[in-house]
Amino acid sequence: MAKLSQRHLLGIKNLTTQDIELIFDTAANFKEVINRPIKKVPSLRDVTIANIFFENSTRTRLSFELAEKRLSADVVNFSASGSSVKKGETLLDTVNNILAMKVDMVVMRHASVGAPHFLSRHIKANIVNAGDGTHEHPTQALLDTFSIRERLGTLSGKKVAIIGDILHSRVALSNIFALRKLGAEVLVCGPPTLLPKYITSLGITVELSLEKALAWCDVANVLRIQLERQQIKYFPSLREYTLYYGITKKTLDNLKKKIIVMHPGPINRGVELSSDAADSHHSIILDQVENGVAVRMAVLYLLAAAN
Ligand code: CP
Repeated sequence: MAKLSQRHLLGIKNLTTQDIELIFDTAANFKEVINRPIKKVPSLRDVTIANIFFENSTRTRLSFELAEKRLSADVVNFSASGSSVKKGETLLDTVNNILAMKVDMVVMRHASVGAPHFLSRHIKANIVNAGDGTHEHPTQALLDTFSIRERLGTLSGKKVAIIGDILHSRVALSNIFALRKLGAEVLVCGPPTLLPKYITSLGITVELSLEKALAWCDVANVLRIQLERQQIKYFPSLREYTLYYGITKKTLDNLKKKIIVMHPGPINRGVELSSDAADSHHSIILDQVENGVAVRMAVLYLLAAAN
């Protein structure tokens, strides 16, 4: 059986192209499973997984939990709010206490960049990064690229524009790594204040004009303005942001070409994306969510096999 080169999924940066292809092939099989009347397989029957979330989540947490249950794993869920973290317990003590209850894998979201990498140096369990601060969100990038491949057949030579708040986005960085490894051309677009200085070193194009970015791309992956991570003002007002970078169905229809619109969620409807654009025939946002379960099943299954 083919195996992943890693026993943790900390980011896309350390995955090989073969790893990503293996995850896609495995996810395609699991997608078939979760569309059967009986959506469950016994693959992780003897495995216990802890979902440890120190930051808010809807999609990622539910998607991992469903993926784990579809694989017949035993699942425990932990939220920092309402836990002994509030009494001053450290990250390592929290996780070691959970592991003492014989947990095999940890899925973790944390506001601090590098938190899952730190854990991977101190504990034996497999770790899956479910988002570390503004750094990486590897399973989001895997489900995004899987969804594009499903629609377009391949990533190779396809043009993908990532639009919005690139500076605060872990989704952007993981997507850039995944898209580049799979042979796509990548452009980022947003106000200059929301584009990190290092971005051109990643082998991608920067475009400040939304009109030009949309005219160029096959796929527009639209990102949320992350106001909760913005301690200073990066643009005068949300109204002005929407004026220059908001996408409506009319904007898309006027392109007079096929374009795929994606969003990792949660959407600020009426800010980066209007409701009529988010719910239009251009959008594959709910396909992304469906594919998320299959992709996460594949990741968990392959990491368990990598031990
Ligand atoms: N896409 C994403 O990470 O969404 P959640 O924050 O709801 O998990």
